[in-house]
Amino acid sequence: MIQSLINTLLDDIEVQGWGLIPQFLTVAVIAALRQDLLHRQSEGQFHQAAVGKGHNAQTHLSIRGDETMWWQDNDLEISQKTYYENINIVSKAINQAFFLGIQAFECHYACYPVGAFYQKHLDSFRKSNSRLISCILYLNEDWEVAQGGQLRIYEADNECFIDVFPLSGSLVCMRSDTVWHEVLPANRARYSITGWLCRSAF
Ligand code: OGA
Ligand code: MN
Repeated sequence: MIQSLINTLLDDIEVQGWGLIPQFLTVAVIAALRQDLLHRQSEGQFHQAAVGKGHNAQTHLSIRGDETMWWQDNDLEISQKTYYENINIVSKAINQAFFLGIQAFECHYACYPVGAFYQKHLDSFRKSNSRLISCILYLNEDWEVAQGGQLRIYEADNECFIDVFPLSGSLVCMRSDTVWHEVLPANRARYSITGWLCRSAF
């Protein structure tokens, strides 16, 4: 990975709490990840995402409408291992820059069906601050602005925002505890890998 992309990411996280790497993996690896996602979805490995954690977890389509499949370390394709290796490089760089104490990474595939959204939220759970940095890699070929589905990232004033479209290969990294964000509905299915650099493994 190109060091200057990592340096820009680190600067942006420091200044605004989040940053982006436009072409995080090769087109071939992104295509393989998309294939793997679609294959697992067709096999019924996806489930309606929940809000909250443990026994507080409940599905609320009025809050979030995505379907997810958590990665299992004993069931990984080569493309998934490649993603882990590259996230590890980012993780080490973020750890060194901000002394966050990152020790683990967990992630899931996500599919937002047509019209699904995720209301404005923070990613760290109230009772646990184990999620430090949220990482989202988009897997959508030929996404157009008119199709919607933007990730809306709010600035510190909580009113101004920047919209990021879920373009194939873009990686967004943001602080899980401070950066408010939401996912707007799209008129086509929207695919991603959403993950978190964490203080400890679960
Ligand atoms: C999430 C989330 C953003 C996106 O899953 O918590 O905010 O762009 N995802 O998919
Ligand atoms: Mn989120």
